[in-house]
Amino acid sequence: MKLRDNARFSTICIHAGQEPDPSTGAIITPIYQTSTYVQDALGRHKGYEYARTQNPTRSALEGNIAAIEHGKAAFAFASGMAAEGAVMTLLRAGDHVVVTDNTYGGTYRLFERVLRKYQLDFTYVDTSDLDQIQRAIRPTTKMLFLETPTNPTLRLTDLQGACELAHAYRLIVVVDNTFASPYVQRPIDFGADLVVHSTTKFLNGHSDSVGGVVVAVNDEHIEWLRFIQNAEGAILGPMDAWLVLRGTKTLPIRMERHNANAQDLADFLASHPKVTRVHYPGLTSHPQHALARTQMRGFGGIISLETGSLERTRTLLNSVCLMSLAESLGGVETLISHPASMTHASVPPERRLQIGITEDMVRISVGIEDIDDLKEDLEQALDRI
Ligand SMILES: Cc1ncc(COP(=O)(O)O)c(C=O)c1O
Repeated sequence: MKLRDNARFSTICIHAGQEPDPSTGAIITPIYQTSTYVQDALGRHKGYEYARTQNPTRSALEGNIAAIEHGKAAFAFASGMAAEGAVMTLLRAGDHVVVTDNTYGGTYRLFERVLRKYQLDFTYVDTSDLDQIQRAIRPTTKMLFLETPTNPTLRLTDLQGACELAHAYRLIVVVDNTFASPYVQRPIDFGADLVVHSTTKFLNGHSDSVGGVVVAVNDEHIEWLRFIQNAEGAILGPMDAWLVLRGTKTLPIRMERHNANAQDLADFLASHPKVTRVHYPGLTSHPQHALARTQMRGFGGIISLETGSLERTRTLLNSVCLMSLAESLGGVETLISHPASMTHASVPPERRLQIGITEDMVRISVGIEDIDDLKEDLEQALDRI
């Protein structure tokens, strides 16, 4: 099987990075659950020496995701946070980073509680406003770290505009593309230098693996990331690499359904009398709906809503039956959560409010179940509040 250069997205998802297993012809890349490789003779081996450094299952996944994201190389890590940690080693003490203000809570914790100890500095701004990015740039700024759509307020950053601005100041642009998935948007096409994912989410898609990946285009970044993946050793294990590789094969059809179900639920919630506000880029009421139409394919699988009070939100969360109250997102099953006390509990309350994460906010990671079952579940739960 040879993938042609002009292969389309779904074909790339299924085939890129993979060849039938050379020893048996197995069509699916095996789980190479080994720690080392026997060498033919002193100084002669098959390209594999030790499994922290190279593993064929991991390499297949890395080739697959690099192709899916339009990058040149990818590196798989033990979690999304490990992937972000690796990216940040491109910086040196004294460097400054401009960051999307309501970035994932774990990213904020890594930057504030860990990396500040190593003299990195961070400024958080509303990156949906390019002027705010520009005003935050200083002589020591080396990186722009973006998340779009943001979690959980679903605000967007103009990827092309932000990349152009950042590159004028020679900044590295990193985009956390976990929330959208590469089906919905490919930041490298808009000029990003590095894309990070928690593969735990849409890429794996089945809520049965934790992992992360960094996709790069620039040779210097690629060389460093290959080095740091081995030097720090926070690699993705072969079983998890295999699970994600299985997940990416169905990414396009899953995302089509996530997008469709989320749009349908957002429309339903937007007209529901018990719901005070719905955040979803696919709604014409979303302040950046026009931007979403230009940089996203569909509007993603995540919706946030507000009910008017913490008490009403508590009742809603405790009344759903089909939807599971749980952190995480991007799986085939619908998850519902309370960002203020769950995913964003590590963000100080006053900061949470500043970035729009209210006490009554609910986040739904819309799965691919039958839409009528999802609506009925929400309907009966909303009836109780
Ligand atoms: C947007 C985003 N980035 C990064 C992460 C971290 O990924 P992981 O949990 O795989 O370490 C998460 C996890 O929820 C996330 O939502």
